[in-house]
Amino acid sequence: MLTQSTIGDSRPIGVFDSGLGGVSVLRALCAHLPSEDFVYFGDSANAPYGVKTQDQILDLSRQATKRLLAFDVKAIVIACNTATAASAECLRTEYPHLPILGVEPAIRPAALSSKHPKVLIMATPMTLKMDKFKTLERSLSPLAEFYTLPCPGLVELIEQGPERSAQLREFLSRLLAPILASPPDAVVLGCTHYPFILPLLKELFPSTTAFFDGAEGTAKQLEKRLAEQNLLAPCTHRGCVRFLSSSTDPQTTALMESFFRSHPFSS
Ligand code: DGL
Repeated sequence: MLTQSTIGDSRPIGVFDSGLGGVSVLRALCAHLPSEDFVYFGDSANAPYGVKTQDQILDLSRQATKRLLAFDVKAIVIACNTATAASAECLRTEYPHLPILGVEPAIRPAALSSKHPKVLIMATPMTLKMDKFKTLERSLSPLAEFYTLPCPGLVELIEQGPERSAQLREFLSRLLAPILASPPDAVVLGCTHYPFILPLLKELFPSTTAFFDGAEGTAKQLEKRLAEQNLLAPCTHRGCVRFLSSSTDPQTTALMESFFRSHPFSS
């Protein structure tokens, strides 16, 4: 007999990012939707996206989408704030029947975290330049005092994995020194690579600082969307993940898997 637990759509969900960062979103997706299969594509050969033009990012996002569609994916998650801002709208127009979800800097929960908090938004230069981001920030400006911090160079260091911990510590100390003179109440990690360096950030900010990222919100939205469109996998299924990379270095896929399993930069 067919029951709720045995029927469903068992095709995988495609997830992509410029590199390893989207694995932070993938973790939330897997925790939220344990019956789903995922195909993760990290475009490490072309990382970072955050200093490219919008057209270049759109082109790379189109290529990533095509690569995932070859796996007959039922939905796509753009696990990259930069690619979401630069390409989500176009991709949705180009694939009107495919659910395409993105990730956005978690500015709203940060703005609502206390009474008129001082909120620092760390993101790639491209994300912070986009109208989409500026409109969101403007709409929430009565609720909080926002400061933006573009972080060029940070993604490249994170992509190199735990061996770069010492350089990362140094880079962050230099980058954040002017801000730490008068620390914010909340920090938005507006790039999916940054949740991986949370232990290092916590060493620098006061213990009262709250951190926010968009992974959980994306996972909830994905579940809602799949349920609405009857696309959820049978709940008896135990989901699995397949990792793909554009990099020819076999070490990259190994790093993805280790980022997926543990915190690479713990103190
Ligand atoms: N992880 C990406 C983001 O969320 C992009 C990082 C990059 O490639 O610059 O914005």
